Amino acid sequence: MIDSIQQLRNVIEQDLATIKDPASLEAFRLKHLVKKGTLQELIEHMRSVPKEEKPLIGKVLNELRTYVETHFSAAKEQIESKDTGIETIDVTLPGTIPTIGHVHPIRKTLDRIVDIFAGMGFSVAEGIDIEDDYHNYEALNFPADHPARDMQDTFFIDDPEGDVMLRSHTSPVQIRMMKHHEPPIRSIMPGRVYRNEAITARSLAEFHQVEGLYIDKGVTFADLKGTVTSFAKQMYGEHSSFKFRPSYFPFTEPSAEVDIQCYLCKGEGCRVCKHSGWLEICGCGMVHPNVLKNCGIDPEIYSGFAFGFGIERVTMLSTGIDDIRYLYENDMRILRQF
Ligand code: PHE
Repeated sequence: MIDSIQQLRNVIEQDLATIKDPASLEAFRLKHLVKKGTLQELIEHMRSVPKEEKPLIGKVLNELRTYVETHFSAAKEQIESKDTGIETIDVTLPGTIPTIGHVHPIRKTLDRIVDIFAGMGFSVAEGIDIEDDYHNYEALNFPADHPARDMQDTFFIDDPEGDVMLRSHTSPVQIRMMKHHEPPIRSIMPGRVYRNEAITARSLAEFHQVEGLYIDKGVTFADLKGTVTSFAKQMYGEHSSFKFRPSYFPFTEPSAEVDIQCYLCKGEGCRVCKHSGWLEICGCGMVHPNVLKNCGIDPEIYSGFAFGFGIERVTMLSTGIDDIRYLYENDMRILRQF
């Protein structure tokens, strides 16, 4: 009996090697695996095996059966997965349209801002997010303990001197620019800024600003007004109205803030403009002589202006989104609209 099992195993091994298409697979099945096949025939012989030999023969027979079954199903799988060379694509099935992303509204606004200022001859400069006290405050004419430091609630980074912080505005890039470049300087400086502010519909702790700087001989407040107004008209429309309101920044003198007439109520007063009819869009002024001196530029020869505004605010005004948080929640229903 053991011999017959061994012989059958040899035959099966040879036959397995000949399986190469559905026809030979079926031939194998009919020869060995059906009821009247070779395997079943041997199993039936078990009846005539003496009782004491049964356990051993049964075991060997079982091994053969497992062997055949596993090899047969492996061969079957291989044949079924083989490329038949016949076209099987159903061209009538509706296709899947791949989703294509698009530029985020904040980035879109920034691209538009860069484009407008590039048209007025401004280059783009970038700075670093982690600054020291000197660049974020001191060189910008904020003396230590000056109350104006409280205008921007700063995130400090753990260091023994308390000197390192996340920049609270993009103005430190002005300092780096003036220290490393001879006038004339005409650049805008976009970037991310950080302030320890409560997250509300109008403010975030992390947002974006664009700072602008123009230093040359004979630059006046009229140049500042012309540049900012020209930008704002291109950004918000030729017929928008603006006003320059006196303000205070330590690094500019005189300083101003620019307001645009509220896009929603057209000056009548509403919830968005807090019933004033105006929305603040920009801080600006003539660069303070102390700042020029700190950067090695002679204020007797050169003058200049700087301005800065929040990109989120510009995006809100141009899209009509009235809650700043919508811009950061990655809600596709909102983002898809812009
Ligand atoms: N850095 C100021 C701020 O963040 C904005 C500003 C820039 C004002 C340049 C005047 C000139 O509030």
